[in-house]
Amino acid sequence: MIRIRNIGFCYPDGNRALNDISIDIEKGSNVAVVGANGAGKSTLLALLVGLHTLLEGQIEIDGKAVRKDSLDEIRKMVGFVFQNPDDQLFMARVYDDIVFGPRNFGYSAEKITEMADTALEIMKIGHLKDRAPHKLSGGEKRNVAIAAVLAMNPEVLLLDEPSSYLDPKSRRNFILAMERLPHTKIIATHDLDLVLDLCDRVIVMSQGKVIADGEPFKLFFDEDLMERSGLELPLSLQTRK
Ligand SMILES: Nc1ncnc2c1ncn2[C@@H]1O[C@H](COP(=O)(O)OP(=O)(O)OP(=O)(O)O)[C@@H](O)[C@H]1O
Ligand SMILES: [Mg+2]
Repeated sequence: MIRIRNIGFCYPDGNRALNDISIDIEKGSNVAVVGANGAGKSTLLALLVGLHTLLEGQIEIDGKAVRKDSLDEIRKMVGFVFQNPDDQLFMARVYDDIVFGPRNFGYSAEKITEMADTALEIMKIGHLKDRAPHKLSGGEKRNVAIAAVLAMNPEVLLLDEPSSYLDPKSRRNFILAMERLPHTKIIATHDLDLVLDLCDRVIVMSQGKVIADGEPFKLFFDEDLMERSGLELPLSLQTRK
């Protein structure tokens, strides 16, 4: 489904964020991307949806190269939930943010309502429909941002820190919802318990490179790897003193 080949990226200020990354992702898989602050997780997700222009290498999604001239098609296939919901929500009313994507894609009014209602229901936020996004709490904003992307029903979901700000109940609802959805998902996160619950594969990044790729249980017990990548064993795997 996703083919990333030898990509590299530098921010305009000269900061090199990614170096020679190659990854293949199968359709329907749940893949986590982990690593310390600044490792390059958000940059990698942003490149997958063409928010920046690659310096080196290629990305293909479902056989389609991510390039300036293919962005409309790519963004129909790939939904991106930003690390900071304030970068994503911009309408005056939650419901308008939720229907923004489906409206843009030119669906019928009936279909738009159906897509929006399904997304509100999945994230259990029907009661927030008429609120102003910028006046919501952190967790409420996060749930709205996820719903806004689900409403577009993309084949690939890119989720940047989706569990941050969520209370335990919302976090559980999010995990159960993601388990039920058949989409291909790439989740950048510091929440290693979430990785264990949801992901069959984890990609570990450090300083703009991939330094490990494999099964979460195996990699999280590799003490040397955890140390090198600045990660800590998930709470659920730490033995109680
Ligand atoms: N707009 C920007 N301009 C310049 N450098 C940037 C910009 N955004 C990020 N960087 C740099 O690129 C590198 C990768 O950042 P990125 O945001 O991808 O990390 P991350 O793994 O998502 O970190 P976090 O866990 O804190 O979200 C870092 O060195 C960061 O300082
Ligand atoms: Mg990030």
